[in-house]
Amino acid sequence: MQVEQTDIIALIEASLEANYSDVRAISNRIAKSISVQDVEFAKKIKSILRRKGVPLRSSGYMENLPVDAKSRMALVEEHQWPVSPLFLNKDAKCVFDTFITDIVNIDRLISHGLAGRLNMLLSGPPGTGKTLIAGHLAAQLNRPLYVVRLDSVISSMLGDTAKNLRQIFEYVPTKNGILFLDEVDAVAKLRDDNHEVGELKRVVNTLIQGLDSLDDHTIVIAATNHSGLLDPAIWRRFPYKIKFNLPELEIRSELWHHFLFMDNGNEQTAKVLAELSEGLSGADIESISIGARRKSILLNCEINIGSVIKAVISSSPGNAELPSGAELDNAEKKDIACMLNSKHGVSKVDLAKILAVSRQTIASYLKE
Ligand SMILES: Nc1ncnc2c1ncn2[C@@H]1O[C@H](COP(=O)(O)OP(=O)(O)OP(=O)(O)O)[C@@H](O)[C@H]1O
Ligand SMILES: [Mg+2]
Repeated sequence: MQVEQTDIIALIEASLEANYSDVRAISNRIAKSISVQDVEFAKKIKSILRRKGVPLRSSGYMENLPVDAKSRMALVEEHQWPVSPLFLNKDAKCVFDTFITDIVNIDRLISHGLAGRLNMLLSGPPGTGKTLIAGHLAAQLNRPLYVVRLDSVISSMLGDTAKNLRQIFEYVPTKNGILFLDEVDAVAKLRDDNHEVGELKRVVNTLIQGLDSLDDHTIVIAATNHSGLLDPAIWRRFPYKIKFNLPELEIRSELWHHFLFMDNGNEQTAKVLAELSEGLSGADIESISIGARRKSILLNCEINIGSVIKAVISSSPGNAELPSGAELDNAEKKDIACMLNSKHGVSKVDLAKILAVSRQTIASYLKE
């Protein structure tokens, strides 16, 4: 096994400084050099690296992050890489993969004069995975993710806002980081706040100048729920775009399968729940699923699918109802059985399984 002594020293130093970016980078280098002789050991290191670290703030450590001059609040935060999977439809996956491939091959593209801005814009309704995908991109590219804290950046003095933005654009490239402008429309929304048009223009210009000042290797991801509010000049600076929609049937089925059944069988029930949950976001499906699993643990019983269905039916986007976990009464079971059978063609056998009653009972529900 060949580990450079300098790497060991650097790793110890980075750990004591709580410099997680360096800890990850050095450990990755060590894993790579070890992998030739000992694949398993290298895999073990990689899997530890995928785990969440201690949040920077609670570790009592604040790197030398740029801060707002008046409030002394940090302007960016380093976010941990996500540990949960991301489910994307074909179109989104295609843009995701192209983005990664272009970044990995950026030097080749530069040498052919084909480099462009490595900026991606994510738009779509809340809870559809925009923040999650930013984390996944950072993890796949093995780079720290710096999330801009718009509450600290946007100061009551627009002049300070511009200064803050400039600080961020100078800082992130020094860390080889990915800059994540979450809720980028907040800048555009300043328009409503009775600021002078000229002043606001200056902030938008600073943002644009910041984007233009970055070299070919810096990656910027921006997310917005209100793509219509964005200045067209900002819009144009993001060549890669993913437009998120509420998840379609197949994705909903994967979300239920993952969040409710922890990827363990029960695909038929996941499909039925997917049919019923049209219009709900991934975050809604996650919160109903976690609610149901909590009940099942605390009540010491199997997940009560009937109560999950009831919660799904009474949920609306962004307003997920938590399952009560209580057994449905006969009238409720009958209503659900009839609805699933007539509207979604669910067979009697599946209904019996889903509602945990006998096939005869289902037959009698449907006959009545
Ligand atoms: N497509 C998806 N695949 C996997 N998980 C998802 C997906 N969409 C949503 N989720 C779940 O919902 C959670 C919230 O999603 P996320 O924070 O990424 O939404 P968002 O689009 O950034 O919303 P907002 O606009 O409110 O910031 C995720 O952490 C994840 O657990
Ligand atoms: Mg988000």
